[in-house]
Amino acid sequence: MPPSRLRRRPARCTPAATGAALFASVGLRSRLNLDPLDSERPRIPEVRIRDATAAELPSLRLLYNHYVESTHVTFETGPVSMPNRECWLSQFSRSGPHRLIVAFEGRSVIGYASSSPFHPKPVYASSVETSIYLARKACGNAFGTKLYGHLLTLLDAEEAVHRMYAGVTLPNDPSVALHRKLGFSLAGTLSEVPRKSGRFWDLCWFERSARDHG
Ligand SMILES: CC(C)(COP(=O)(O)OP(=O)(O)OC[C@H]1O[C@@H](n2cnc3c(N)ncnc32)[C@H](O)[C@@H]1OP(=O)(O)O)[C@@H](O)C(=O)NCCC(=O)NCCS
Repeated sequence: MPPSRLRRRPARCTPAATGAALFASVGLRSRLNLDPLDSERPRIPEVRIRDATAAELPSLRLLYNHYVESTHVTFETGPVSMPNRECWLSQFSRSGPHRLIVAFEGRSVIGYASSSPFHPKPVYASSVETSIYLARKACGNAFGTKLYGHLLTLLDAEEAVHRMYAGVTLPNDPSVALHRKLGFSLAGTLSEVPRKSGRFWDLCWFERSARDHG
């Protein structure tokens, strides 16, 4: 991991979450173990990634409901329930185009990334919609790059996947940067489509070809 990671701009999970930015950057610095013999090389906390199981659902529900209730980045109208998440989990499998992976730092769930059907009509079967959510305190530490990169590697290996799509509600600079960094390009922007918190939001769609970026 390059030392430049230390010079990262403050994390901003949500447009209004300035406190989150401070928390994330302080959290990163406090967790760096600087070797006195090589203080130029910080050790970034390890992240472990695996397929999600029902055991992670309570953590994933809490993590997601923060964004449902406090931000415009997702358009659920109210907090999701455990039965809702159980149904959500059932659409994924450990192989094939529809995946759900989770990241842990130590024993704590810090985020998830998923690929879901892009559209219910069979002609769209080779397209998936990808998504990623990190716990607020985990943002800005390159975990998103690692977790989403892992998902994209899995999808690149799937013959059944041809295109990946991701919808990003603006503004969301970290998500836009992450998608561009991992090989997505802007397909287009829909203006003033979703309505949440008393106003319309612009929604941009990113697309990526499977296997072109390996
Ligand atoms: C979007 C999200 C997954 C990104 O993960 P992350 O771990 O914070 O991002 P990373 O640290 O891996 O950074 C990825 C890129 O974004 C850039 N970035 C990070 N925070 C940024 C910010 N506030 N403004 C601009 N760019 C930013 C980084 O510089 C990096 O690019 P680089 O390596 O070329 O410098 C994470 O912030 C998140 O979960 N946000 C809340 C939920 C959300 O918005 N999900 C996406 C819904 S579409």
